[in-house]
Formats: sequence, structure tokens, C-alpha cells
Amino acid sequence: MQLTVVDHPLARARLSRMRDERTDNANFRAALRDLTQMLVYEATRELQLAEEPINTPVTGTTGYSLAAPPLIVPVLRAGLGMADTAHRMLPESQMGFVGLARDEETFQPKAYMASLPESLVGREVFVLDPMLATGGSLVNCCTLLTDRGTTSITVLCALAAPEGLKRLEESGLPLRIFTASVDQGLNDKAYIVPGLGDAGDRQFGAV
Ligand code: PRP
Ligand code: URA
Repeated sequence: MQLTVVDHPLARARLSRMRDERTDNANFRAALRDLTQMLVYEATRELQLAEEPINTPVTGTTGYSLAAPPLIVPVLRAGLGMADTAHRMLPESQMGFVGLARDEETFQPKAYMASLPESLVGREVFVLDPMLATGGSLVNCCTLLTDRGTTSITVLCALAAPEGLKRLEESGLPLRIFTASVDQGLNDKAYIVPGLGDAGDRQFGAV
């Protein structure tokens, strides 16, 4: 597993806006969109390019496009707030969806939907979920993806807890993780500390 912490002044500022309990739903969503842009930018640095000759109005030159745009997979519900920004930056990508909800007593994730291509053999996948807490949700989601044949998963999250990172590392899944912060740890309700609360509720309201 490869871990990259995107520690940039703009990322810290947006993350602070998300952490602040005074930030309302609309401003939380806006800050998450900005942060997603930074995470996608860093995570796509090594994507392969295809070359083709193009003409500018002045002369001929070499043009570039993504050789194999990754499949984008937001984890519902909270990952939805990252989906549009990631898709705007990777407009050629397809998007799949995984729905997971964590039982707040056992902290175990329950999968309630998956809309994914049948085969992911040879495909790179970008998973979007703002929160990596115990890691249960991401292990569940990424296992669905490797079961379909992918060997390359990049996870983009706003915040990660050391406990979740350890669990992902021990899972042996083929992962790269990009996060804006590794926080102190989890509290007794498996919330990230200092964290930002419930990322789904902070975007969409408590249901
Ligand atoms: C949150 C978050 C992750 C999960 C992280 O989702 O978006 O998917 O918790 O926790 P874990 O690492 O301990 O599994 P939640 O289950 O609250 O669902 P929601 O997005 O619908 O609010
Ligand atoms: N899910 C969240 O939304 N927040 C946490 O801190 C942990 C899990």
C-alpha cells in the first residue's frame, strides 16, 4: 500500500473549513469539492498518456490524451460530494457506484448497492470516500472491485485514521491512498478525532 498525504496550504485551509462545526452544509460541500480537486490532481500525476499529432492554428505538434481513464467509484452517500469534481477533471472516465452504510453500533459496513462493470480486468479504479475511519467500508468496497479483477485501486479521502490505514495495509489489497490528513485516531464511537463529524450528515443533513 502506498500512502500520500497531500499537505498543501490550500488543502489545510479547505479541510479546516470542513472540520469547523460552524460550517453549514453548502459551505462544507464547496470545501469538499475544492479538496477533491487537489486530491485528484495529485493522484493522477502518473496516469499514462497517449500521443497523437495535432495542428495548432500555427503549426503541427504532439497532442496528449489519457491512454486509459480510470473508472471513478464514489462510495455512497458521502463520496457523492466528490464525484462531480472528479468527473469534471476526468471527463473521459466512466463512473460506477457502491452504497455502504456503517452500523453505528457494530461499526460494520453493510453494502446496499453496487453498480459496477462486470469485469474490471486491466482497469484502474479511483474510489472516492471522504472518510477512512476503521477502514471497514473501504476494505468492503475495494474487495468488490478486486473480485471483478482490478489490480490497481487509488483511494481518495479527505481524512484518514491510523487504525484504518493499518487495516487497509494488512488487507493486502492493491492500494494507493491519497488523503489530506492522517488524524490522531478514533474515539469510542469509531469517529475520527479531531475529524469533522459525519461526512454524510455534514453534506446532506442527518437522515
Ligand atoms: C462513512 C464514510 C465512510 C465510512 C467510514 O459513511 O463516508 O464510508 O463511514 O467508516 P469506516 O472506515 O469505519 O468504515 P457512513 O457509513 O456513515 O454512510 P453515509 O456516507 O451514508 O453517511
Ligand atoms: N464516518 C464519518 O462520516 N465520520 C467519521 O469520523 C467516521 C466515519
